[in-house]
Amino acid sequence: MNEKREFAAYLQRHIGEGLTFEQIVSLIEKPKQLHQGDLAFPCFQLAKIYKSSPAEIASRLSAGSLPSLFSKIETVGGYVNVFLDKKSAAANLITNILKEQENYGRHLIGKDKTIVFDLSSPNIAKPFSMGHLRSTVIGSSLASISEKCGYKTVKINYIGDWGTQFGKLISAYLRWGTEEKVKANPIQELTKLYVRFHEEADNDPALNDEGRKWFKQLEDGDPQATQLWVWFKDVSLNAFQKIYELLGVEFDSYNGEAFFNDKMDATVKELMEKKLLELSDGAQIVNVGEDIPPCLIKKTDGATLYATRDLTAAIYRKNTYDFDQAFYVVGHEQSLHFEQIKRVLSKMGYEWAKNMHHVPFGLILQDGKKMSTRKGRTVLLENVLLDAIQLAENNIREKNPALLEVDEVARQVGVGAVIFHDLKNEKGNDVEFSLEQMLKFEGDTGPYVQYTAARIQTLLNKGNFNRQMPDEFSIAEESWELISVLNEFPLIVQNAFFRKEPSIISKYVLKLSHKFNHYYGSVKILNSDETAERLALCASIQIVLKEGLRLLGIQTPKQM
Ligand code: ARG
Repeated sequence: MNEKREFAAYLQRHIGEGLTFEQIVSLIEKPKQLHQGDLAFPCFQLAKIYKSSPAEIASRLSAGSLPSLFSKIETVGGYVNVFLDKKSAAANLITNILKEQENYGRHLIGKDKTIVFDLSSPNIAKPFSMGHLRSTVIGSSLASISEKCGYKTVKINYIGDWGTQFGKLISAYLRWGTEEKVKANPIQELTKLYVRFHEEADNDPALNDEGRKWFKQLEDGDPQATQLWVWFKDVSLNAFQKIYELLGVEFDSYNGEAFFNDKMDATVKELMEKKLLELSDGAQIVNVGEDIPPCLIKKTDGATLYATRDLTAAIYRKNTYDFDQAFYVVGHEQSLHFEQIKRVLSKMGYEWAKNMHHVPFGLILQDGKKMSTRKGRTVLLENVLLDAIQLAENNIREKNPALLEVDEVARQVGVGAVIFHDLKNEKGNDVEFSLEQMLKFEGDTGPYVQYTAARIQTLLNKGNFNRQMPDEFSIAEESWELISVLNEFPLIVQNAFFRKEPSIISKYVLKLSHKFNHYYGSVKILNSDETAERLALCASIQIVLKEGLRLLGIQTPKQM
């Protein structure tokens, strides 16, 4: 059903040229009060166009013969209100969902346009942090939501694989590291070496010079430095890959910071030619306004910086993908950085800089404190996921001892729980981390939604539902609420996209699950006169739950 468009078509037949179809659609709203109908069209704009009163326009618009989807039309103070004929509206919607399946809720907003996502982007030789987890799940979900809105997406994992810290790491490894230890436990061992370097450098500042020297060698392509760097990168990416596999996330590109090494000269040259570079205490900077600090392009020693690479990467991405928008899914603490990048690009004359959006998110807390690598509060993400899977397995075995394929289901539930927990609140909020909470089968959790979908699957199996719409279709009053929630889904997808907010989807699947479970508890679905209709409704709910979960990056087990 698209009753909004149906209503718009009706209105257009009576409006004349004054407004386009899409303008009419965008004006249609929900009446403030339930008893005023299901859709309302305000006539104020038309009144201006036709130099008449809104009430007069409204009464003219309400005089036509109504499409069968509507049962009544009324005018109230300059509005035209229509009431849906619930029976045909419901039949329409269910037929549509069963026909479209997972395509239900798709939009064409982004047709022929590309959004480039900068997401995940962990730093090599360091643990994959909770912040990177958030970036990964928020970014992938936003990419799926954008695809559902018709966009083409490019997911870029902008690996942090360049910078002075790698000079320090090389120096630390050559002093204290061994190949066996790094091979056995790459990330832990490299982190240890890096931490030790800083500790020892506190007492022996000469170490820092050594680190800088190694970075210089690396930049100059020294074979020993390069070989170590390549190795550190390999073992790190292997470790990250295990996490991505568990999460079921894939990327279109792994072009990280180092990829831009040979491309930065051109950026600096361009900045120079456009007369934007200024000298400040020996460093080269671009001033980007009084309200924020200048953007640092080159250090006193000529070394490039994080910002230099991001500027170069942005230009490269624009040239390579011709993006309509670029989303940078990165924590709050980098807001200033992205503001500087955008302003530098604008000053360079790149109008498209306004289409770059920093998409920030809050912290993950443990007992109210930020999880930090340095303070020993570090958690290895792979272990977190494996723990979640184990806990899920325990819960599932307890609930359903006869379940087959327990390993697969436990993985879907454990990982789904972690993702859902992250995406269920607005992304700007901090998230308190608790495995126990997120794995509960009741309450607002991922497993609860998955369990609801699995329960419906069982019903469909038992009732031999064949995914066909029954000939007779009379939806009773108690299912109307479910129908109207199902009907919201396309709008929910659109809102989630425009607000860059996966939690709109999570809250929606929770609401749909609650409503279904209430329905399930109060209506007999199998072996009733209305079993066919009810199963069709259940099947539609399941399609939408599954698709909602998919948009969050969560799989739906067939049984649980
Ligand atoms: N590697 C960075 C970090 O962990 C995040 C990179 C974000 N993306 C970017 N284009 N700067 O802090």
